[in-house]
Amino acid sequence: MSLFKVYPLYDITPTKAKGCYVFDKKGNKYLDLYGGHAVISIGHGHKNYLKSITNQLDKIGFYSNYIVNDLQEKLSKKLLKQSNCKDYDLFMCNSGAEANENALQIASFHSKKSKIIAFKNSFHGRSNAALSITDNSDIKSQMNSQLNVKFLNFGDKESLIEEASKKDVSSIIFESIQGVGGLDEPNTEFVQLIRKICDENDICLIADEVQSGFGRTGDFFGFQKHKIKPDIIPMAKGMGNGFPVGGVLIDRKIKAKKGMLGSTFGGNHLACSAVLSVLDTIKEENLIQNSKEMGFYFKEKFSKINSIKTIKGRGLMLGLEFDFEVQNLRKKLIFEHNIFTGGSANKKLLRILPPLNINSTQIDLLFDALKKEGL
Ligand SMILES: Cc1ncc(COP(=O)(O)O)c(C=O)c1O
Repeated sequence: MSLFKVYPLYDITPTKAKGCYVFDKKGNKYLDLYGGHAVISIGHGHKNYLKSITNQLDKIGFYSNYIVNDLQEKLSKKLLKQSNCKDYDLFMCNSGAEANENALQIASFHSKKSKIIAFKNSFHGRSNAALSITDNSDIKSQMNSQLNVKFLNFGDKESLIEEASKKDVSSIIFESIQGVGGLDEPNTEFVQLIRKICDENDICLIADEVQSGFGRTGDFFGFQKHKIKPDIIPMAKGMGNGFPVGGVLIDRKIKAKKGMLGSTFGGNHLACSAVLSVLDTIKEENLIQNSKEMGFYFKEKFSKINSIKTIKGRGLMLGLEFDFEVQNLRKKLIFEHNIFTGGSANKKLLRILPPLNINSTQIDLLFDALKKEGL
């Protein structure tokens, strides 16, 4: 093989996908409870998605950001309306890491400071600044220790207040549910304290919604449960249902300056057409409500399995924590029960991130498989 081998691969080659299912080249059918890592939001090969992208491709697929792209304006209006986020502007890029990189950059331009507070067990992506605020020494190089970053525990109010009072903090970044870290989340009291501390110390609050955004948690954005308004909201994954696209919502109190940010491909016509069809489908098919309801159904159903210690997460961003490491169970689920699931930094946790249109019958398939495994 001539590929740079960075991924521990499962030996399956998908050639087709529809709805909540993936098919491999041998014709096997798999239930997708992983959503290609929380990416598939409206389902594989959705008709609205195909139509929107192919129609757009027939017209124009790409042009430079130095020429007006009215699809970005349309998307921005629709996104604010549907997410119920008021007074933000949109900057578009291509991935989650890039969205976070831009978010940190915007915060530093605005605050004229450079220190960042991030949280233990966080994951924010693989670019330099994103890795600098990611708490995993295994994936960090020497280069990623140049930024001034302080990692705190969720709930550690004293350290938060102490660090912020030093007046050198540019931004505080948090995941409303830690995806790669293993589905832990801060409570409302702590998130509201972060907001207050940011206001008092001229710090930008960044809510990394790359994984938890676009309806995955049963709200449009995961932070909305806590009734706060972040200054900057990076997003990606579910936004394009597989089309590589990212974006940053920026509170209008933060002023743009010509040339401050930029991207060649960000927000191109095809990317916008993908996101527009995702937004329309989320609305038409009531997918945020489905995410919420299926999350409740899932929790109720799996609470009957004794070997599950904790069920973490919300909506369709869920984790089943067992009292053993789940690596072998994941293999059995794929190769014997034809079900894709995800892992995380917590080796005992099975991650569940299905398309948002999953139904209870499909969820039951995982329950039956776990029962057959004697759990
Ligand atoms: C919360 C969070 N932020 C950022 C990223 C990085 O996104 P990308 O892989 O698109 O760069 C991820 C990816 O898993 C993520 O979960």
